[in-house]
Amino acid sequence: MRFKLTVLPGDGAGPEVCREALRILRALNNFTDREFHFEEKPVGGAAIRALGNPLPDTTLQACLASDAVFLGAVGAPEFDHLPGHERPEAGLLRLRTALGGFANLRPAASFSAIADCSPLQKSRIEGADVLIVRELLGGLYFSEPRGFGPNNDSAFNTMRYSTEEIERVARVAFEQARARRKKVTSVDKANVLETSQLWRRVVTRVAADYPDVKLDHMYVDSCAMHLITNPTRFDVILTENLFGDILSDEAAAITGSLGMLASATIGGEVDIYEPVHGSAPDIAGKGIANPLGAIASVAMLLRLSAGMPHEAADLEEAIQQATGGTTVCRNAGQKVFLSCGIGC
Ligand code: IPM
Ligand code: MN
Repeated sequence: MRFKLTVLPGDGAGPEVCREALRILRALNNFTDREFHFEEKPVGGAAIRALGNPLPDTTLQACLASDAVFLGAVGAPEFDHLPGHERPEAGLLRLRTALGGFANLRPAASFSAIADCSPLQKSRIEGADVLIVRELLGGLYFSEPRGFGPNNDSAFNTMRYSTEEIERVARVAFEQARARRKKVTSVDKANVLETSQLWRRVVTRVAADYPDVKLDHMYVDSCAMHLITNPTRFDVILTENLFGDILSDEAAAITGSLGMLASATIGGEVDIYEPVHGSAPDIAGKGIANPLGAIASVAMLLRLSAGMPHEAADLEEAIQQATGGTTVCRNAGQKVFLSCGIGC
């Protein structure tokens, strides 16, 4: 059976981690009845350089016509001077909106073999296994109005959520929790923000449809603290867009490297798979970027879009085994993988 994947390598370390990840799918073509076909298109800074637009129409059309999208990373320092809507990141944000995936799944688990890589005490992270469900199409990232005031001496963004936007992502979180340890922690700032008060109300109402799943609520500042001091208390964390962006990078401390984290964006027309790390321009092109976040994203693709749960589980097991053999060294006070470098 044919499976059409649009590959968007993007910027910095994106192309090199994509290349490694796609080797898995090419290998699967040899011994399963699934035929993965790849079409590569530019996005982000690479697309600005080639076509003057971070999301060219040809890229978007290819994505819309595919079974899934695999993205490396976007962002490059040479575009830092551009206004937000012209930057590489704008290409990714437009792509997310156009494909419609509103639920971004970001798992972070402690890998016992490399627990030494984490800056956190081994005893605190052992057994930690968190899934962040980040709302991806609303909140401060997208709500209007936004912009600069007169003379550019003020600026404003809007955080807006509708009941429907909250409800649909909450359902994804509860469904995910059902297949895990049956606990959802909904993270908000309901002591200050109206959007969070609505968020809490809607999530509580949705929870009534999932009596087998335990729900608790936590303020985002408190969650930021608990996530690194007591990560094993969490199963599924459900939260809005910006809080999820911040907490998911923080959750990297559990694995010890941002380079280990995978993500899947689901719920829209076409699902997007991408490692959580960015373009890592400081190490790009040196052959030291950690491809495991991208490879773990392939496992999510196999499970969620390709209907290949056994192959997904095998791949995750292979990642565990491979990290068991990874050599770890210290570098300038930080721990880095010798063979794979993204941000330990
Ligand atoms: C992420 C990234 C993006 C985001 C950027 C590149 C727009 O940080 O996927 O976490 O903020 O969502
Ligand atoms: Mn981020």
